[in-house]
Amino acid sequence: MPAKTVAPAATGGSSSAGAGSGSAGDGMEGKYCIVTGANSGIGYEVARGLMQRGAHVVMACRNAAACEAAAERLRAEALPGSCACRRLDLEDHASIRAFAAEQAAELAAAAATPAATPASAGGRAGGCAARRGRIDVLVNNAGVMGVAPAPDGTDRHLTANHFGPYLLTRLLLPHMAAGGGEAEPGARAAAAGAGATAEAAGAAAGGGGGGRVVNVASRAHYAGRLALVTGPPGSERVADDTRHWWWQYARSKLCNVLFTAELQRRYGSGGSGGGGSGGGGGSGGGGNLYGGIIATAVSPGLVDSGIFRYLLPEWAQWLKAPLRPLGLFRTPAQGAEVVIYAASSPDLDRRGGGEAGGGVSPTPKGAPGGGAGAAAPPLFLHDCREMQPSAAARDPRLAADLWRVSAALVGLPDEEDTAP
Ligand SMILES: NC(=O)c1ccc[n+]([C@@H]2O[C@H](COP(=O)([O-])OP(=O)(O)OC[C@H]3O[C@@H](n4cnc5c(N)ncnc54)[C@H](OP(=O)(O)O)[C@@H]3O)[C@@H](O)[C@H]2O)c1
Repeated sequence: MPAKTVAPAATGGSSSAGAGSGSAGDGMEGKYCIVTGANSGIGYEVARGLMQRGAHVVMACRNAAACEAAAERLRAEALPGSCACRRLDLEDHASIRAFAAEQAAELAAAAATPAATPASAGGRAGGCAARRGRIDVLVNNAGVMGVAPAPDGTDRHLTANHFGPYLLTRLLLPHMAAGGGEAEPGARAAAAGAGATAEAAGAAAGGGGGGRVVNVASRAHYAGRLALVTGPPGSERVADDTRHWWWQYARSKLCNVLFTAELQRRYGSGGSGGGGSGGGGGSGGGGNLYGGIIATAVSPGLVDSGIFRYLLPEWAQWLKAPLRPLGLFRTPAQGAEVVIYAASSPDLDRRGGGEAGGGVSPTPKGAPGGGAGAAAPPLFLHDCREMQPSAAARDPRLAADLWRVSAALVGLPDEEDTAP
């Protein structure tokens, strides 16, 4: 699996620098970030690293008490940024829709009242970040591995690791429109206050570049296989897979990379997009609809986290102990480094913005499923370096079909018109 360096990693590759060590020039001060599953493991360290860099982090978690406890620990560190807890269960579409609607309302309210500093948005830094009226970074981190199927037999890996994040991302995209960065809060507030769309608010604010979506995938995706049923409306589904949990997990991580590729193709910076007609290209959407987002899938490596709890009950966690001296595991902070890199490094702006000589495009530009124009940001990162994902993950037809099937199954149109 070829891996090539994107650029010197702002967070130090898999070094021991730790996810919490901020880096000058990351430009995360006052940025509004959402991290799912931020109460533990990699997500907690991602939240910490982003706060270290001055960002406001919405910790989107299904367990409110665990989230508050984690947020208290982070606040106790007196980091430059801030955080707030919000409830989100990625296996529950109603919860996802409620979360997205809550975010929209909070951002609109904060943008419309620039002088106010809503405590609910996370104190002073949170208020400032929210006042810009946009989401700068969405980290789809939450995930499960080794879970049993749901009572109705559906694969919970797909539900929690792919369909939930897919719905969440689509609902939040309208709030990731360009115009943040150095944007003038007043301009954005005026647009938002006048009932303008997020897109128009972004344009009014005059900033550049859309937000970033970081999907925490895994090298497990190399083992993933995906078969889709793409018949007439109502018949779309992922073909049943009754195999071992490992294959189901691997498939869900393959979906993470495919979703990233299609997201970038449709709405990525530098591309013309062409959302709508799947692998055949098409009209509508496009890279500029949301100002040109940067979507990246990342692999944190093998991390000593709670993800193994469905395989090893609490009393058996000691079984991991003999493996630790072998150096097989990374700490959650080390695992978080590539996530923070993808969320914050200016390297990706340069790549995503279309610098010549850029990176690997998920598909050849102009080919079916490919955008046109500038180089795309790296699709898949490991150790803060570009790594070629599996052949299946680079299949533009499969990515487009997955988008379409996912849209149908979560009850969204294929095209973007999904304001919550
Ligand atoms: N650990 C590794 O070796 C490794 C390797 C490659 C990729 N990854 C990926 O890294 C990501 C983070 O995993 P981790 O290792 O940090 O595991 P973790 O410590 O178990 O953290 C997973 C987080 O996801 C949350 N979560 C699970 N299901 C959810 C749902 N339905 N709704 C909302 N939140 C949910 C968990 O919440 P609760 O606390 O409430 O359960 C927890 O906060 C996952 O996507 C995983 O696939 C991990």
